[in-house]
Amino acid sequence: MVNKKMLKAFSDQVNKEFYSAYYYLSMVSFFEKKSLTGFASWMRIQAEEELGHGYKIYNYLISRGGEMEFETIEAPTEKWETVLDVVKALYEHEQFVTKSIHHLMDLAMEEKDHASRSFIQWFVDEQVEEEDHASSLVDKVEFANGDPRAILFIDKELSARTSE
Ligand SMILES: [Fe+2]
Ligand SMILES: [Fe+2]
Repeated sequence: MVNKKMLKAFSDQVNKEFYSAYYYLSMVSFFEKKSLTGFASWMRIQAEEELGHGYKIYNYLISRGGEMEFETIEAPTEKWETVLDVVKALYEHEQFVTKSIHHLMDLAMEEKDHASRSFIQWFVDEQVEEEDHASSLVDKVEFANGDPRAILFIDKELSARTSE
């Protein structure tokens, strides 16, 4: 069984993962409004992944005999002007999630919860990938420098992403 401290930290993390899905869906809305369907589809898959992360932790807590604490999911309120603003916000958010995962790992080490440490390692690795994807997206959009043709080219490329 995970202890109370770990249970609270895991529950907070589930909330952050589900919030991320909400947040990314608000980005989907931004792209859909601009008919950037490739960006929208890429972000939809990103949102689905976040739901998957939330479920993964939820299922882990069940397997450890813990009962997740349900918390209110905040509504995303951020508004963006440009595509670059959105992808930068995505990257910043992934960095925020990474910090939170690292905090979870620190706690598991402090609490000598070896099973949780091993479980959280997957998320540590996942965040390396998430940040890498987000930062290269920022690079590409920065490189496009607002040129609509370049943005449409990236849009087409992003439409090729499929859920894993
Ligand atoms: Fe996540
Ligand atoms: Fe993520």
